[in-house]
Amino acid sequence: MDLIIRNANLPDGRKGFDIGIKDAKIATIETSLPSKANEEIDASGYLASPPFVDAHFHMDATLSIGQPRLNQSGTLLEGIELWGELKPHLTVEAIKERALRYCDMAVARGLLAIRSHVDICDPRLLAVDALLEVKKEVAHYLDLQLVAFPQDGFFRSPDAAILLETALDRGVEVVGGIPHFERTMEDGKESVEALCRIAAERGLRVDMHCDESDDPNSRHIETLTAETVRHGLQGRVTGSHLTSMHSMDNYYVSKLLPLMSEAEMNVVSNPLINITIQGRHDTYPKRRGMTRVPEMMKTGLNVAFGHDCVMDPWYSLGSADMLEVASMGLHVGQMTGVEEMKSCFRAVTEFPAKIMGLEGYGLEKGCNADIVILQAADPIEALRLKPNRLFVIRRGKIIARSQPLQSELELPGRPKLVNFSEILKKY
Ligand code: FE2
Repeated sequence: MDLIIRNANLPDGRKGFDIGIKDAKIATIETSLPSKANEEIDASGYLASPPFVDAHFHMDATLSIGQPRLNQSGTLLEGIELWGELKPHLTVEAIKERALRYCDMAVARGLLAIRSHVDICDPRLLAVDALLEVKKEVAHYLDLQLVAFPQDGFFRSPDAAILLETALDRGVEVVGGIPHFERTMEDGKESVEALCRIAAERGLRVDMHCDESDDPNSRHIETLTAETVRHGLQGRVTGSHLTSMHSMDNYYVSKLLPLMSEAEMNVVSNPLINITIQGRHDTYPKRRGMTRVPEMMKTGLNVAFGHDCVMDPWYSLGSADMLEVASMGLHVGQMTGVEEMKSCFRAVTEFPAKIMGLEGYGLEKGCNADIVILQAADPIEALRLKPNRLFVIRRGKIIARSQPLQSELELPGRPKLVNFSEILKKY
């Protein structure tokens, strides 16, 4: 073996297993593995997980906070204004530099696959070229998948249709959209139809910002679902945000969910962004805006949590920590049932991996040896603590490591060290 991880806990609840790695793949998972390896990791009591995956991000805007100024109101509208002000001053070098810095943070957090939307409503397509270069540069340690995203509207922005096709010709792999931002509901519907046709003709996946509003009549998800079936794109289409579903009539949703299920629609909810941006026109009671995650999961839909933004014109916070994202989703969705909490962990690991179509993903024999060792005993403790990623392994090689987090107390008569992951065991 090249590497053996000893005595790890697994996400499905099994404890004390050894993971043997050979030639960048998981060769075996068993107890008391007799083989020897060039390198061994003692993971006693710690969780070994497949890496975190973020199926919804904007890498062209990340870490641009303060350029040209801070979002004083914290609203979506001021964010859009700011991005419009920044866009003419973007350079390929600046976008690349910010994106690479974000990828460094992601690796340190065990986040090894990201689907990023890239704004194509810029005649220079600078962000497309920059992120295609970043994709190549990081390929040996992070899977970056790009979505051609017409931020200013596929019809509303004059050259978006041509620019989107050009971006796809250059190697962007997923077709994006933003139907609720078109001028009329009818334009929105037609944009969904046109974009699904492009994806079907090119054999690509679809991922649209869809119904990101509090308007219960924003029903583009209905069209997206119908077009998915019409073009035989089942399982390859994702509805991102779907916040209007929070406000929709329950009877209508009871018709919609089975149709989405029939279309094998994937869903990405972005809880940090949805809880801060939606409901801004409400007084009290104030809507949460997050889509109906537990109900969708019960219907059998594949639902992931995405980060969406980190330190950009729309969101000043965030740190590439998918456990923070999942923890917010858990709280906003009131998903405190035991199985629901476990699903929240899967919503930032295996569910988004399925959305991205990642091959060889998982913690099973034969999968890629991409593994994160967390300073937590199980997925629920990981959600609670958002712990350090002790080891991040990509294709069998350690690419990041952190020391276990603990605090030293200076309290007479009390234990000297507090280690939050061992609190139940020791105290
Ligand atoms: Fe987004």
